[in-house]
Amino acid sequence: MRATRSCMAETAAGDSFAYRDASCCVFFLWAIGDASCSGGGKGTVLIVKQLCRSFREGEREHRVLDHAHAEFANAEVTAVIGRSGSGKSTLLNLISGIDRPDSGSVEVDGLDVTALAEPRLTLFRRKNIGFVYQFFNLVPTLDVEENVRLALELNGVRGAEARERTSAMLREVGLEDRAHSAVDTLSGGEQQRVAIARALVHRPPVLLADEPTGNLDEETARQVLPVLLSLARQRGATLLIVTHDAALAQAADRVLELRDGRLQEASS
Ligand SMILES: Nc1ncnc2c1ncn2[C@@H]1O[C@H](COP(=O)(O)OP(=O)(O)O)[C@@H](O)[C@H]1O
Ligand SMILES: [Mg+2]
Repeated sequence: MRATRSCMAETAAGDSFAYRDASCCVFFLWAIGDASCSGGGKGTVLIVKQLCRSFREGEREHRVLDHAHAEFANAEVTAVIGRSGSGKSTLLNLISGIDRPDSGSVEVDGLDVTALAEPRLTLFRRKNIGFVYQFFNLVPTLDVEENVRLALELNGVRGAEARERTSAMLREVGLEDRAHSAVDTLSGGEQQRVAIARALVHRPPVLLADEPTGNLDEETARQVLPVLLSLARQRGATLLIVTHDAALAQAADRVLELRDGRLQEASS
């Protein structure tokens, strides 16, 4: 299947920022979008084409992705499973353009993301990709409302419209009464709901979630999961969720397993 939606020219200049989380293990480079992909309808929105990615370990080359290939339909929810170290986060980083493949490509709406140079790549990511991380990666110096509004402002939506869309989004994740709270005063589940609001407020066609319930207790994960799925489905976002959570995988339209560097339909 080919993509059916068209891409428009990019808008504002690409600013991005990076910081390390508290454990200094997970880096966060957040910059969402460039050329905007508009419209709805069925079809393939994302193609991961024969991706290869290796990392050097001393003298040895460690091939993490070995011709990983998959197509993702518009508004489809896919769970990606695989043992720790199998390359799940590497795959998401390549899809979002945070990392570059050794060979192969990623297409979003027919646009070869891997061929984009900066600053177009950053602009593309900012507009078209939403990201939800295991450790939330909220900006600690901004309050709840500012964290969510930032995703709109980076896409050129400002003033009253940005404030109204942010309020509506916070209402949808049940956090309107925490709008002006410091993010570190929120529980893990609340912080992840802020992160979900931030990832979706600018209505990206593709939403990537890397173990979004991995840092939550079972009860909290059970509350956050439906929020993520129902908002993604409501907005028609194509969602890829990396997860070890069987309930999460069950709620997906399909499950792909990353094994030996390749993506394959998981046997149930
Ligand atoms: N930037 C990097 N430099 C070196 N090795 C890396 C880098 N990123 C990932 N790896 C290695 O690639 C493998 C897959 O990592 P990752 O994608 O994080 O796995 P998963 O998310 O499935 O647990 C691991 O062995 C990891 O150590
Ligand atoms: Mg990972």
